[in-house]
Amino acid sequence: MNTYPSAYEADMSTRDPLAGVGAEFPARWSPRSFKKTSIAQEDLAIIFDAARWAPSAYNEQPWRILTSTEETFDTFLGLLTKPNQKWALNASVLGFMIAHRTFTHNGQHNGWAIYDCGAAWMSLTLQARKFGLYTHGMAGINKEGIYATFAINAEEYEVVAGFALGVLDVREKLEKPYVDWEAPSGRKPLTEVWKQGAW
Ligand SMILES: Cc1cc2nc3c(=O)[nH]c(=O)nc-3n(C[C@H](O)[C@H](O)[C@H](O)COP(=O)(O)O)c2cc1C
Repeated sequence: MNTYPSAYEADMSTRDPLAGVGAEFPARWSPRSFKKTSIAQEDLAIIFDAARWAPSAYNEQPWRILTSTEETFDTFLGLLTKPNQKWALNASVLGFMIAHRTFTHNGQHNGWAIYDCGAAWMSLTLQARKFGLYTHGMAGINKEGIYATFAINAEEYEVVAGFALGVLDVREKLEKPYVDWEAPSGRKPLTEVWKQGAW
C-alpha cells in the first residue's frame, strides 16, 4: 500500500466537529488543485473495493463505477462541464458513479439507487484518504455525452455524478476563481440538521 503525500497541510480552522468525531470525517474535503500522479493499480483496486462494502436497499449494490485510465483520461475530462475541466485536468483519475435503476429481485424501479451510490462514493472517498488521496464530487458532467460515449443503456442505468481522485497540490497553482475557494469549508450547526423527537 503506497501513500501519496499532499503538497501541504490544509488549514482546518473552519471545521469544528464535536470532540469525539472521528478525524477522518473533517479531514475529508474537496480540493481542486491536484498534482498529476499515477496511482498504482493495486491501490485503485483497494479504493474501489471499499465502495463494495456500502449498504444498499435489498443489498442490491446498484452502484457501478466507471473510471478513466491514463489512455482515456482526456475522453473523461471532455465529459465534464467546462468549469470543472479547468481544475480537474490534473486529477489522477476521473470517474462516474452510475446507478442500476431497477431491483434484481423483482425488476421494479429502485428508488434508493442514487442514495446507495452516494454511500458507495463516500466509502471510496474515505478509503482514498487512507492513501493520502482526495476526491472531488461533480454534478457538472455531460450526462448525455457519457451515455453516448460509453454506450450505456439509459433505460437500465442512470449516470449520477462524476468525481476526481488525486493528490493534493498547492492552491497557488489554481487560477481564479478556484484559488479563492481552495480551503476546507465549514458546516451548518448540528442543531439545524439534527431534529430529535420532533421536526
Ligand atoms: C454530488 C456532488 C456534486 C458536486 N458537484 C461539484 C461540481 O460540479 N463542481 C465543483 O467544483 N464541486 C462540486 N462538488 C463539491 C461540493 O461543492 C463540496 O463537496 C461542498 O462544497 C462541500 O465541501 P467539502 O467537500 O470540501 O467538504 C460536488 C459535490 C458533490 C457531493
